[in-house]
Amino acid sequence: MLRFLLAAALALTTMSPAAAQTGSPRVESLLSRMTLDEKIGQLNQVPGGRQRALNSRLDAAALERVRRGEIGSFLHVAGAAQIRELQRVAVEESRLGVPLLFGMDVVHGYKTLFPVPLALAASWDPDLVQQTAHVAAVEASAAGLNWTFSPMVDIARDARWGRVVEGAGEDPYLGSILATAQVRGYQGASLADPSSIIATAKHFVGYGAANGGRDYDSADISERTLHEVYLPPFYAAAQAGAGSMMTSFNDIAGVPLTAHPALVRVVLRRDWGYDGLIVSDWNAIPELMNHAIAGTPREAGAAALRGGVDMDMAGNLYSAELKGAVEADPTLLPMLDDAVRAVLLAKERLGLFDDPYGRADPAREAAAMLTPEHRAVAREAARRSMVLLKNDGDILPIAASARRIAVIGALAEDANSSLGSWRAQGKVEDVRPLIPALREALPNATLTYAQGYRPEAAQVVAVTASGEGAQAVHEVSDAEALAEAVETAKASDLVLLVVGEHFDRSGEARSYTDIGLSAAQDALADAVLATGKPVVVILMNGRPLAIPELAERAPAILETWFLGVESGPAIADVLTGSVSPGGRLPISFPRANGAMPMTYAHLPTGRPAAEDLVRDTARYRDQPITPLFAFGHGLTYSRFDYGPLEVDRASLGATGGVTASVVVRNVGAVAADEVVQLYMRDPVASVSRPVQQLRGFRRVALAPGQAKRVSFELTPAQFALWTDGWATEPGAIQLMVGAASDDIRGRAEITLTEAGRFATPAPAVATPSTESIVP
Ligand code: BGC
Repeated sequence: MLRFLLAAALALTTMSPAAAQTGSPRVESLLSRMTLDEKIGQLNQVPGGRQRALNSRLDAAALERVRRGEIGSFLHVAGAAQIRELQRVAVEESRLGVPLLFGMDVVHGYKTLFPVPLALAASWDPDLVQQTAHVAAVEASAAGLNWTFSPMVDIARDARWGRVVEGAGEDPYLGSILATAQVRGYQGASLADPSSIIATAKHFVGYGAANGGRDYDSADISERTLHEVYLPPFYAAAQAGAGSMMTSFNDIAGVPLTAHPALVRVVLRRDWGYDGLIVSDWNAIPELMNHAIAGTPREAGAAALRGGVDMDMAGNLYSAELKGAVEADPTLLPMLDDAVRAVLLAKERLGLFDDPYGRADPAREAAAMLTPEHRAVAREAARRSMVLLKNDGDILPIAASARRIAVIGALAEDANSSLGSWRAQGKVEDVRPLIPALREALPNATLTYAQGYRPEAAQVVAVTASGEGAQAVHEVSDAEALAEAVETAKASDLVLLVVGEHFDRSGEARSYTDIGLSAAQDALADAVLATGKPVVVILMNGRPLAIPELAERAPAILETWFLGVESGPAIADVLTGSVSPGGRLPISFPRANGAMPMTYAHLPTGRPAAEDLVRDTARYRDQPITPLFAFGHGLTYSRFDYGPLEVDRASLGATGGVTASVVVRNVGAVAADEVVQLYMRDPVASVSRPVQQLRGFRRVALAPGQAKRVSFELTPAQFALWTDGWATEPGAIQLMVGAASDDIRGRAEITLTEAGRFATPAPAVATPSTESIVP
């Protein structure tokens, strides 16, 4: 198969294809009038600044380059006035008047910051996720932007990789659903609407599989895993119409994705019919020389173009080298034309040729940001993203009788961390922090606060690929601060212990071998728990944490991630019980650093993991075989009973569908949401299959005593496995329904009577679901 792919890729890149037409007369006409230099200019994306210093590089020289047609796009620029001026020069003063693309990492909000992507994924609420992306687009477009480098749809199963914070977690089905939701949210019904922006599915592909969880490192992925785990969310994004994709920094088995025709030209372009704009990652084209697959800048440029990369992000290499490369090797010219077509087509889809200034309207910009409506979406998103990991003795919600409450841990007052890793124009002063929100929500309680250790700004410890200095914080144990925290705890009826990680510990280039708490936080947690007071742990973090001891000793743990501008009030809503938590983990929590990578969807192996240590099985001897908290786990302030899982037919051919349904009843005393999860297993197949795979879910709101029937409609394509294409094999398929991957409440089985072949990756097929009240 791989041999076939490579051969096909070679054929595609060496053939000189009759110019692939876009079907757009305007694009074709423009292309026919462009000089080679103008074409290359379209492929050049230059930074107008950095993420935290937007527009800092926009000067007269930049305008001059625009005038000469040397720039196709800027990134890290914003502001309607600045962008209007750049666009004016491009449209009115360059020879062909081609408008510019303006891109930025608008990842979880532009001005109104929402929970970080991993947190949003924990909502298991695609509509909500779509709404947050829509608000982000409304704000970003008002500031002149027409392109975001989001969603990051990389599946991640190793929490040492700091970028788990930017994605939807470990599962390709959940990841595909949320990729679709985000693309729809950013792009709206039409890209030509001036409040829509182009979405970028990134990083194509396998970036989350970096060896050892080290950012940028090589990945070595089997073809089956590539198709079954890493590619499906990209397929879903492509189907949803994502206007752009970004290739990833990493190599797979020695082939960097910045120069990977077999995946970009064959799988993405040919097999999936993708016609959007493909952009490199930041400076990744020159870095092909570091990968050591190109000896000179010119070879690097030619390799990237052959690999199907249309636009050079910040590498300044296409602009410096492509001319020489094409002159030396004219077979590159049709590829260059196709790359220019992709850029022009993106501009046309955005309506830029007809309305270049629609997104650069200072009046709209002034009115669009952080409106009460946008804040309300942020509050709702933050509420729905929290995951109640543990709640022994129903210690939460906070009892009305709790009079003296101690809030302990410096993260409690770290509003900066609430903004998360990509913050576009989010500002600390826009964050509503935790402590004042708690005071407001608990007017009859006395709230005391102690830091417990000293957070100290450290020197820049790393510079990311996009050139940003790290803002690392050292958490320093301090005997006085610790003693004060212990006294504060002792003088309270209830402790809210806020621990986790500073926001800048997760994100790009933030890989760590140790994903437990810092020594200072560990000491604090230990001392506070030793007081014997009831302790509720509030976690703030961007990745799963290995905190087995804390999880054992603390009676309650609320995972709050980094929740954005409405962080404080939303946490207060949940702690006080005005809202029941309903989020679920989109990624497993390990018990130890050394237990990664891990996933609930593992293969059974010949010696399936067993608790009994006398047997030799697939496990670590020094840890239980279960994760600390499983994929899909999350509690509420209520309890739910599940009826049997019913299927409307016992067998299925290669077409048709089966409906699986279950009645879920709220048997507790408060209204709460249950996330009903549907898993499958193919118990015997020609190749070993995962013990569980998510194939459907629905977040259902239930009043106390209320019951609803939740139904899922499945088709044979969803049971397929990858063997040189997607195929089903005759035999049994087991279905499981439950409240988490480790809390299965009902099972059913159907038989596939025929083999089938399918075009869509199984995890990228969305399962329609419905709910109806059962009297
Ligand atoms: C990241 C991308 C990001 C780009 C532009 C790179 O370092 O990997 O995810 O879109 O910078 O900021």
